[in-house]
Parts: sequence; C-alpha cells; structure tokens
Amino acid sequence: MCGIIGISSNKPVSASIISSLKKLEYRGYDSAGIATLFEGEIKEVKSEGRVNTLEQNFDLKNLKGNIGIGHVRWATHGIPNSVNAHPHSSHNVSVVHNGIIENSTILKKYLTTKGHIFKSQTDTEVIVHLITENLKSNELEEAIKKTLKQLHGSFALGIVFKDIPDLIVGARRGSPLAVGYGPSENYLGSDSYALKSMTNKITYLDDGEFCIIKKDQVLFFNEDGKKINKKILELSSDESSYDKGDFKHFMAKEIEEQPTTVKTGIKEYVDKTNSDINIYNFPWNINEINSITLIGCGTAYHSCLMAKYWFEELTQLDISIDIASEFRYRKNRFKKDTLYIFVSQSGETADTYAALDLCNKNNMKTCAVVNIIESSIARDANFVLPIHCGPEIGVASTKAFLGQILILYILALKLASLRNEINQKIYKEKIKDLQKLPNLIEKSLLIDNDIQAISSTFNEAKGSMFLGRGLSYPIALEGALKLKELSYVHAEGYPAGEMKHGPLALIEDGMPVVVLAPRDSYYKKTISNMQEVIARGAKVLLITNKSKDEIVSENIWETIEVENINDDLLPFLLTIPLQKLAYYSALKKGYDIDKPRNLAKSVTVE
Ligand code: AGP
Repeated sequence: MCGIIGISSNKPVSASIISSLKKLEYRGYDSAGIATLFEGEIKEVKSEGRVNTLEQNFDLKNLKGNIGIGHVRWATHGIPNSVNAHPHSSHNVSVVHNGIIENSTILKKYLTTKGHIFKSQTDTEVIVHLITENLKSNELEEAIKKTLKQLHGSFALGIVFKDIPDLIVGARRGSPLAVGYGPSENYLGSDSYALKSMTNKITYLDDGEFCIIKKDQVLFFNEDGKKINKKILELSSDESSYDKGDFKHFMAKEIEEQPTTVKTGIKEYVDKTNSDINIYNFPWNINEINSITLIGCGTAYHSCLMAKYWFEELTQLDISIDIASEFRYRKNRFKKDTLYIFVSQSGETADTYAALDLCNKNNMKTCAVVNIIESSIARDANFVLPIHCGPEIGVASTKAFLGQILILYILALKLASLRNEINQKIYKEKIKDLQKLPNLIEKSLLIDNDIQAISSTFNEAKGSMFLGRGLSYPIALEGALKLKELSYVHAEGYPAGEMKHGPLALIEDGMPVVVLAPRDSYYKKTISNMQEVIARGAKVLLITNKSKDEIVSENIWETIEVENINDDLLPFLLTIPLQKLAYYSALKKGYDIDKPRNLAKSVTVE
C-alpha cells in the first residue's frame, strides 16, 4: 500500500533512496518524500504526486547525509498532499510508515495535552510524537519498545533520530518489512524488490520485531526488546524481470510472458514422462481432508471461484470460497478436515493475511498459492504452492491470474487422483492437454488488431456487461475487473443466466456486452442469454472457441475465436482477449496503465 526505504551508509544516500522509491511506486504513488540526517539536522523534503515531481521540486542532488529514509504513499488517512506525505518529523525524530494506526485519535489527544503540535491529517504523525515523548524518559530501545506497545493497528516503520545520527530503526506489525545488507551500508525496505538493485542478501522481520540498522551492523529485537538472531536469505538476482525491455508497459510485457510463465508452472509441477503431477512435501494425509475453502481478494478471488468449478468437477470434496475481507469477520465454523487455501500474488494483502492468521490461530490446515515466496502469507502458511511467474509489476494482474488458476487446476487434478476420484486414463489425458496450453496461449495472443479496434466502443459507453456461465463466469468477472481498474469505466461481470433477474433492465441501444460462450456444455444456454441482450439493443462481443459449426445467431457486433482445447482449459484462452481489451482501452485513453489511479499493487492495509 505504501513503500518504505531506509539506508545507513558511509556515503551520501539521497540518490539511492530516490532510485529505490521509483521501484517502490507500484505500492503507492500519490505522494513521496525523503528525510536525511546531516550535521545534526533532519532535512525533510516531500511533495504530492510521483517521485519525479519530488525531483523536479527539490534539488535532491545536494540533499546531504549518509543516513536517510524515503516513502511513497497510498493515502489512507488524509488527502494526498505535501503536508500528509511522509516522512513526518518532530524536532528530533522522522518517521515513514506503511499501515494503519487504529488508536491514532486517542493518542493524538494524549500527545496534544503533552504540548505536541500536529501538522497533518495522518495517523502516522502520532507515531513521531509518541516516540519523541517516550525518548524524554527512556533510552532508545526502551522508548521504541514502549511506543510499539502503545500503537494499535498495523505498521512497517522506518525511523531516524537527530540526536542518534548513525542508525535507523525499523519495526513491523502486519505490514511487510525487510532488511538488506551491503558492503559498507545496510538497508530497510518494504520488500525485496526495493532492495534488489542494491543487494540480494535479505532478512524479513516478523510481526512484533524491530531492528537497529547502522552502516556496519544490524541488530534485531523481539517485542520484549530481547536481542534475537534472524536468517539471511540470498535471493535470485533476476534483474531482467524488473525491466520492461522493449515493451511500453509492464502490463504489456506480462501479458506476453504468459506462454512462458504457464510453461514454467507446468514444468514445476508436471512429470511429463510419467504424465503425473508432483506436489512435493504435501504435509497432510489425503484422508484428513474432506473439504476445501479458498480465500482471496480481487483477481485472486476470481482464481478461487475458478478453482471451485474445477474441484467440483474433478473431486467429491466440498468446496467453498470467500472474499478475504468478509471471511476474516464472518462467524466461521472451523473444521479440522478442511484445507484453507489462500491465494495471493503478492502474499502481503492485509485481508488475506488476516484470514490466514485467523485460521492459524484456530490450528487449521493452511496452504498458500502465491507468487512471492518470501512473502508473509507464504511464510506463515503450513504449505506453499508457488506460481513461479516472476515479478508482476503492473498493478492490474495478468500473468499471476493465469499462474494462480494453473496451480489450482493442477492441485485439483492431483487431489482427484490421490482420492481415486478420477480415472487414471482421463487423468493422464488431462495432464497431456495441459502441456498444449503455452502454445495455444501464444496463438491467442495474436489477436491484437481486432481488439484494438473494438476497445474504443467500451471507452465511449457509460458501462458494459461481461457475461458467462460455468467455467466462463469467473473469467467474465475477471475481464470486467481488468476494464474497470485500467480504463476507469463501469463494467460488470455477471452470470449469463442471471441477467433476466434484473440487470437486463440496464441493457440499452448500443451498450457493449461481452459474452463468453465457448462451445462447452453451457454453450446453447449462453447463446440464448446473448440473444436476450441483442434483442434489447446490446452490441455483443462474442468470445468463443474455433469451430466448423456456425454460430446460432445474427446481429452479433464482433466475434473473437480462441484456439481449441478441452473444456477445462478454455478459461485460460478466454482470458487473453479480455486482458488485451482492458489494456487497449486504457492505452487509447492515455491512462497510466501500470499504475492506475487510486490503486496499488499490494493492498497491505484493510
Ligand atoms: C487485480 O488486477 C488487482 N490488482 C487486485 O484485485 C489484486 O488481485 C488484489 O488486490 C489481490 O492482490 P494479491 O493477489 O497480491 O493478494
């Protein structure tokens, strides 16, 4: 949700902080700021807008100091402006924060009675003054420990001190925070992506921990202030993934990467020689599991819904799904024989992490399907199934969606086999079909021109519908989300059979409606629903799969035919035109495709 960086070095840090903040902008970009310590003074500069604006507004090259912190913001409390931008500073403390302080109002009242003056509307500013107040009567570590215990809510913090000019304090509860190690400097960052250009040696803080970072030393403490040792991870230095290459946008690159990422996912889990699936170290006896609950947010929730159809198709397991922000507050009935699966690209989504934490506290079986294996959700689940897509930088998820549903499909196949609920011949056929996917996705990616021409109609309309049945329904939801979050026009995914129960009233002359009608068992029914909207003036974009049979309807505005594969796997191919539709709509509007307004790549606050 916000991005944090801190550097303690033997040389000036402002340039490195600014370049790291640019890498962190995918986490939030409505304002930015930096603070350095130099000759006993805290020098703080910040402004509304992107990091580039900060560079244009201030002479950062001459911002001296070998210690500093930086921040890119996604506003939670207080509008995006330079006053509410981080860092926030008192006369002797400066803080950058990612998270939400839930008791900030009470703390603000208390601190005001102590004479502290507040300048911003943010919750973060109470942290600054609380530390300042606690430092009056405590040594540093004691003051930090006391402050953290007084804060309710979530935080990842970077803190510098005017009177202690050789260190940065980091602290974590509920929002991710990492430490990086350099030759004559050390780092603090929201995630490895921010630190990877400077080091591949990383340590992740766990909830309740804090650290003291000097240029040549890093100390870790638990919430009681006791010194602890932490593991140093060596991360793969795959810098190429963090580069757009010849593409105009990360999203364009990530759409085109899908044949490769799907191939990688298949390679990771499929034993081609024996036509079998390997899920190593599955920690439970298959007889211990009689139901599955899948939990996620946004696109990850659509992956859960997609998986529900496959699990029901392939196994006798009871399957339920839930949106994480609902699940975490529901009166859940936890069952020992249920496997809880948490789907998350970033592995840091606050609602999904909170749902996992709730299941862990109830000693449930938990499995994470994630892209970032060093993430909090991956680290705290009993079992992890990585999707192996490489970094996904575009805020709108594309390759990670295909990666998520691929791994969930593979898991459904494997569990069906282990439970003897699938004929082994069919099982092996389906595994063989899987291996055709990358090439068919490649072919489906070639539809560029048709889609570019169609996209303007969606831009000019006041709204659109995306309809599908069965396995196509989750794809309809995902397609609508892509269009909404990229071109800021209203789009609604809906079960095709549900239109007559109300939403048909929305249909008016010229309204664009996407109908996903592959020639599967739902085809005829979906075509009838399509005719219902055409009869009321809708401009239908029909997305189906190639067939020698004619389509049973006239007055279809446009048709896109994807390649053929068994019904189970058609959702992978149907997704591609919808990703491209959203991309070209936003491109035509000139919007920021990789960083759409109001959004962030990882929503680490609730
Ligand atoms: C999808 O395009 C969005 N970026 C958003 O819905 C995202 O899928 C959601 O916030 C969940 O993120 P996660 O997969 O990292 O948990």
